[in-house]
Amino acid sequence: MGSIVTIAKNSLAGTEQPSTVRAPEIEKGVGCDFDSYLLVPDTTLDERIAAAKTKLGKDVVILGHHYQRDEVVKFADFRGDSLKLSQQAAQADGEYIVFCGVHFMAESADILRRDQQIVVLPDLNAGCSMADMADIGQVEACWSELGTVVDIRKTVPVTYMNSTAAIKSFTGENGGAVCTSSNAAAVVKWAFARGEKILFLPDEHLGRNTGYRMGIPLDEMVVWDPFRELGGNTAEALRRAKIILWKGYCSVHQRFTPEHVARVRKEYPGIRVIVHPECRFEVAQAADEIGSTEGILKAIQAAPAGSEWAVGTEIHLVNRMGKELKDRKVISLDPSVCVCTTMFRITPQHLLWALENLGAGKIVNQISVDERTRHFAKAALDRMLELG
Ligand code: 13P
Ligand code: SF4
Repeated sequence: MGSIVTIAKNSLAGTEQPSTVRAPEIEKGVGCDFDSYLLVPDTTLDERIAAAKTKLGKDVVILGHHYQRDEVVKFADFRGDSLKLSQQAAQADGEYIVFCGVHFMAESADILRRDQQIVVLPDLNAGCSMADMADIGQVEACWSELGTVVDIRKTVPVTYMNSTAAIKSFTGENGGAVCTSSNAAAVVKWAFARGEKILFLPDEHLGRNTGYRMGIPLDEMVVWDPFRELGGNTAEALRRAKIILWKGYCSVHQRFTPEHVARVRKEYPGIRVIVHPECRFEVAQAADEIGSTEGILKAIQAAPAGSEWAVGTEIHLVNRMGKELKDRKVISLDPSVCVCTTMFRITPQHLLWALENLGAGKIVNQISVDERTRHFAKAALDRMLELG
C-alpha cells in the first residue's frame, strides 16, 4: 500500500506553524511569512482579502464548508457540505482551489482536481480527529485479520469522506467506495449489491445510523476496535455481521445526548429536532430528522416561518442559520458550545496570507497526494460521484 505524501503533515496535534511547514518550491519564495499576518489590523482584513481575491480573478476558487466561521466563509465562491464541495472541486475551473475546510476535504479536492490545478489549505493544522482515528496500518491489519474468519472477497470497504487519502485509496483498491453523510445509504446499497458484508470506516455512528435506517438489525452490526484481537469480536459474530463498524467517532457530535433531546422537547413543546448522522444512535433515534450539514440547512430553509428547531451539529452552522433564517427559531441541541476546533483554525489572516502569496506567484500550504494513493482514492471517490 503506497503511503500518502502531503506537503505538510495532517496534524491535529501538530505544533508546527504553517509558515515553517513548506514544500521545497515554497521555500524559494520570499515574503511568505505567516506570522506577520497576525499583525494585520482586523479593520483592514476584509478589504485586503477582497482585493487579493479580485487580483487572482478566475485563477482562484474558494470553497467553504458550512462549519467555517462567518469571517472566512463569506469569501467562499461555493459553500456546502462535503459532497457538494467535492463536486465543486471536481468541476472547478480556477488554477488554485483554496479550501476553507479541513485536511481530508482538501486532500479529496486534490484527488479530484484537474491536471495543473493546485489545492491550498490555508492552515495545515486544520485536521479532523475522526479521520485520524483510522490509521492505514491498522486498517490493513484489520483487513488481513478479517480475512482469516470471513470471505474477504465478499466484503466491501466503504469509507466516509472524513478519512485520509490513504484510507480512501485502500477502499478503492479493494473494490469499495467513499460516502458522505448525505449519500451513505446509496453507497451502502451499492456495496451490498457487490458483496455480503461491509467494512465501514471510520465513523461508527454514521455506519450504524445508516445501516439501521436501511433495515439492518443492530445485532448484525459489530464494532471493530483496532486495539483488540479480531476487533474485540468472536469469529462467529464477525461471520454473522452485515456491517463491521470501525471504532471511530467525531468528538463534536458525540457530545449530543438523548437527555439534550428530552430537555429541548420539554422546554419548547413542538420543537423539531434535527441532527447530523455522526451523532450517537440513541440521539438519532430520539430526533425527528437526520441530515448532512447541507440537508439540515435545506430542511430548515424549507420549513414554515415560525417553526422552531433544535440542531445537533457544529455551532457555527447553527448560529448562522439562526442569524440568516430570522423568521424561524434555531437553537443548538446542546446549550454548551460544540465547536469543531480544527475547522476554527482557519482564520481570515490565514485566508489573506494564502491569497496574497498566490497573487505574488508563491504557493503556500499546497496539499498534494502522491500519484499511487491518488489513483485508487480517485476510483473510490468516482464510484461515489457516479451514484449522483
Ligand atoms: P457534511 O458532509 O455533512 O458536511 O459533514 C462533514 C463533517 O465533517 C461533519 O462533521
Ligand atoms: Fe471532523 Fe468532527 Fe470536525 Fe467534522 S466536526 S471535521 S468529523 S472533527
